[in-house]
Amino acid sequence: MRTLQLADKTVPVIGQGTWRMGEDRHRRQDEVTALELGIELGLNLIDTAEMYGEGGSEEVVGQAIAGKRDQVTLVSKVYPHNASRKGIPAACERSLQRMKTDYIDLYLLHWPGSYPLEETIEAFERLREGGKIGRWGVSNFDVADMLELKGIDSDSACATNQVLYNPEERGVEYDLMPWMQTADMPLMAYCPIGQAGNLLMNPAILEVAERHDATPAQISLAWVLRQDGVIAIPKAVDPHHLRLNADAAKIELSIDDELLIDTSWPAPSRKKRLAMV
Ligand SMILES: NC(=O)c1ccc[n+]([C@@H]2O[C@H](COP(=O)([O-])OP(=O)(O)OC[C@H]3O[C@@H](n4cnc5c(N)ncnc54)[C@H](OP(=O)(O)O)[C@@H]3O)[C@@H](O)[C@H]2O)c1
Repeated sequence: MRTLQLADKTVPVIGQGTWRMGEDRHRRQDEVTALELGIELGLNLIDTAEMYGEGGSEEVVGQAIAGKRDQVTLVSKVYPHNASRKGIPAACERSLQRMKTDYIDLYLLHWPGSYPLEETIEAFERLREGGKIGRWGVSNFDVADMLELKGIDSDSACATNQVLYNPEERGVEYDLMPWMQTADMPLMAYCPIGQAGNLLMNPAILEVAERHDATPAQISLAWVLRQDGVIAIPKAVDPHHLRLNADAAKIELSIDDELLIDTSWPAPSRKKRLAMV
């Protein structure tokens, strides 16, 4: 599996998302088993958040990484309403307890909130000094937010910005992605297969899939990963999906493939508001 450097660690370009996990105790064992299989397949970058299942997702992750914490790069996110001087250490402690670990590799602000960024960054830095987190970063930040952050984060400590990115939603290509590339900051692409919606039935995606003897979801992942500095974090509970996702990193799209996909979703020619789900 292709790798890149994220938060001072070498990580696979495909990780595992966990939104919607930990919401139903009847599905919990399948979710744990899926994350374990993903780790075996080399998808040992796991993305979670205190928001997912209101902590349930972090509990599932904790079960899946038990006994193999050091094999996994763990990303979690703090709610903006907890991103204060006092709120961040408390939220982090709760996340650590749910995941039964003593450190988070990468801790993100889930989206811009109302606490001053200086305060949030200061609290992240304290956690880093105390060894509770390895690095910190942000999510759902547009260019203007990144510029504000950059004005405060003079040491460029921010390790990533996690944003929505897939063939249907490529607005970030206009300005955010180039900005991050210049800053040498990896982009974590969420919903990289469009939450298995219409994207997977698009005729261009279907045709490219046929050319590569691959599935539409694999083509969407290969498309997201066609440039350097991007990490995709698909969520999959179905073991068949997990195996397909792990294999998708091997697919290399041709210029013709990309042009065909452009006919459905052209590259942005002007600034668009950052898309979020
Ligand atoms: N920072 C943020 O604000 C933010 C927002 C949204 C998401 N995220 C993160 O990004 C992760 C991914 O986004 P997402 O979960 O919303 O959407 P996604 O990964 O694009 O899609 C997940 C859906 O795709 C299905 N799937 C997975 N692999 C497949 C395959 N090979 N073929 C067909 N279907 C497949 C899954 O089914 P099964 O589960 O049944 O396998 C699930 O229904 C989240 O889980 C979360 O960790 C972050």
